Amino acid sequence: MASSCRRSWMKVEPAAALVGAAAVPGVKGISQRAVLLGAVADGESVIRGFGRAADTESAIHVARAVGAEVSDEGGDEIRVRGRGLRGLVAPTAPIDCGNAGTVLRLTCGLLAGQSGRYELVGDESLTMRPHERVAEPLRRMGARIATTDGHAPVRIDGASLHGVTYELPVASAQVKSAILIAGLYAGDGPTTVVEPHPTRDHTERMLASLGVRLRRTERSVTVWPVERLPPLDVEISGDISSAAPLIVGAVLLNGSEILLQGVNVNPLRTGLLDVLGRMGARVTVFNRRVIGGEPVADLEVRSTQLVATAVSAEEVPRLVDELPLVALLGAFAHGRTVVSGAEELRAKETDRIETVVDNLRAIGVRIEPRPDGFVVRGTPARPRGGRVHAHGDHRIAMLGAISGLVSREGVEIEDAESVAVSFPGFFDLLAQVTRR
Ligand code: S3P
Repeated sequence: MASSCRRSWMKVEPAAALVGAAAVPGVKGISQRAVLLGAVADGESVIRGFGRAADTESAIHVARAVGAEVSDEGGDEIRVRGRGLRGLVAPTAPIDCGNAGTVLRLTCGLLAGQSGRYELVGDESLTMRPHERVAEPLRRMGARIATTDGHAPVRIDGASLHGVTYELPVASAQVKSAILIAGLYAGDGPTTVVEPHPTRDHTERMLASLGVRLRRTERSVTVWPVERLPPLDVEISGDISSAAPLIVGAVLLNGSEILLQGVNVNPLRTGLLDVLGRMGARVTVFNRRVIGGEPVADLEVRSTQLVATAVSAEEVPRLVDELPLVALLGAFAHGRTVVSGAEELRAKETDRIETVVDNLRAIGVRIEPRPDGFVVRGTPARPRGGRVHAHGDHRIAMLGAISGLVSREGVEIEDAESVAVSFPGFFDLLAQVTRR
């Protein structure tokens, strides 16, 4: 593409349209869950459509560190030879979860009921994120787990666990998943998690596919302990969070027409499509099918004029990782787009209220922060462009790239390479579909 890259800076030039067909990497969170559960299954799990990225490599690294064998020839199929439910081996060195919050939090649930002593560490961003939210409920289950002033390193001494009923103070699929996984080890009966708002249910779907007894209501899920887990045989569909930048680029650039094939459309992940529908965008969802126990479809996206909308707490978990892109949509929509009830954005890889607002302002967008979200004033004119800083946050780097396409003068992104956390081929794919 007509973009240039020097050192860690990448410049994305303005574009006319996004045109063509594309497929995106397998769902990051399902790839991670499959590797981690594969590590405690009996026998060999086969994972097809593995979403290759730094964050999913972290799951492989963790599985290997606790003794699972992972055969990985670099393609999109990997095999995990599990050690059985209670067979993990404690390494002497700390286990590095990289930048991956899902890996660190789910691994806490996986290790709490093992034997031995474990220490989980991560990069600077992961270290500083709040981990007491997962330690606290696990402690109620009998886990011996300590954070470092609420952060990483997290230290776990294996213990015997018991079932609890836990009401999540924040809507978090990561915390819910850690508790459910620990619940597999609870000696005395079921474990129930009650959610303030429904969050993604990839863990529940995967456990159910392995024959684990689960009961679900609109706001709660109960899991019963198991003696063993059979190996997984799973195919993973495309990640809507990786498709999202292309969807938003196509909606905003006149004359765009893009086909995204094999995208996971789990209803707890498709909040962006609902928001786009309210804003007047034309996204057709068709060829619906089920792959690996998850709903999948093809998406066709065309450009449209947008009207502003509001996103509030109830909807936030269904598009939490796409909210930075909603800010960019708001910049082009007629009226004020308001995102509220999204204080969780402050606990992501960066404080995404701050990084979204600072970066979009730097390129000429009229956006104001709120403690729990932001307000954007739309105008049909392209923003000027300029320089943004991803601060190592993959979603902010991708926001910067799409901002460049829809700007007048282009956008220079510092830390552009952080897209590799979830989508290493992002810039190549974007180049293939960009028309100038
Ligand atoms: C994820 C859950 C969300 C999301 C993250 C992936 C998961 O985090 O932001 O990117 O795979 O369960 P929270 O559970 O902290 O909301």
